[in-house]
This record gives sequence, C-alpha cells and structure tokens, in this order.
Amino acid sequence: MYGCDIQPCWELETVTVSEEETRAWGERLARLLRPGDLVLVSGDLGTGKTRLVQGIARGLGVSERVTSPTFALIREYRGRLPLHHVDLYRLEQDELFSLGLEEYLCGEGVICVEWGEKVIAGLSSAPTPEFIAVELDWLGEEERRLQLRAFGKSWRGRRLGGGDRDD
Ligand SMILES: Nc1ncnc2c1ncn2[C@@H]1O[C@H](COP(=O)(O)OP(=O)(O)OP(=O)(O)O)[C@@H](O)[C@H]1O
Ligand SMILES: [Mg+2]
Repeated sequence: MYGCDIQPCWELETVTVSEEETRAWGERLARLLRPGDLVLVSGDLGTGKTRLVQGIARGLGVSERVTSPTFALIREYRGRLPLHHVDLYRLEQDELFSLGLEEYLCGEGVICVEWGEKVIAGLSSAPTPEFIAVELDWLGEEERRLQLRAFGKSWRGRRLGGGDRDD
C-alpha cells in the first residue's frame, strides 16, 4: 500500500453505511490507543476521514467538537490521552519536516493524520515503523469501505474484534 513494502501485522476490512457507523469504528480503535501512537487516515475528499477522527476523539473522551483542521493544520484536544489532529491536504511533501511530527511520536498523545499517505514514505524507511493506517473508499452515497492495517510490534497484541486475520 502507498508504495511501501512493509507488511502489516494484521488487517481488517469493513463497510459502513452511515457516518455514525464510521465514527463507531473510530471509537473502537481509540480504546486500543496508547501514548505516542500514530493513526494515518487516507481517502479521497469527503470519504469520512474527519468522521473517523471524530469517533477516535469520542473514544478518547474528548468532549470538544472535532472539526477539520484544514486551515489550522494541527489541532489539539484534551481527552484520556491528548489528541493531535493533523490535516495535510494543503501541505507539500517537502514541507512535512517543518511540522515537527516526530516530536509527537515520543509524546504523551495520539496523532491522527488526515491525508496520512503523505507521511508514509518517510515512515516506511524508519527501522521499526509503528502505526495504524485507515483507508476509506467511497462505495455509495452513505457507504464507505474501511481498511485498517496495523504495522509494527506494538500492534501485534492489539486487535479490533471481527474480521481481522493474521498474515
Ligand atoms: N458511511 C459514512 N462514513 C463517513 N461519512 C459518511 C458516510 N456516509 C456518508 N458520509 C458523509 O460523508 C461526508 C464525510 O465528510 P468528512 O469531512 O468526514 O470527510 P473527509 O474525508 O474528512 O473530507 P476532507 O477530504 O474534506 O477532509 C460527511 O458529509 C458524511 O455525512
Ligand atoms: Mg477531513
């Protein structure tokens, strides 16, 4: 995926038929999240990336309303763990470094990145990339395919129920 050659330790595919169902998957995923975790969310415009992050926020106990950070680039929310919500839509590949995302990876919080495929090339060259990638595809007006892929040792023992398989 994303032109990188690392293998996921598990993957899961599901179809949602409402934005609330997509949020619910985010909420479920949030229960597994730990400090320093990276969630890369990808998918075309309007496929539900922000809806998924809203669910993650809810699962982390964020009470504030989560909106798209397109203009702010990064927004931070307080929850069980701090949530850093990033949107790279407008960012060029070579501007990524100026964001200092690596700092968050050793931090207390969780980072959710919309248009996450923009960072994957850099990550897959790291010695032990650790992240979870969620790819959304438009299937119909209210139907979306969600593909979750977990990479790195720390994700081996962390599973979402239903439909996942070992590789
Ligand atoms: N199954 C579904 N899951 C998620 N969103 C859905 C679903 N069905 C319909 N929608 C609608 O799709 C839109 C998704 O918007 P959202 O802002 O979450 O997408 P996005 O991928 O973040 O967009 P952008 O690329 O502009 O950041 C919303 O209007 C939502 O109501
Ligand atoms: Mg969005």
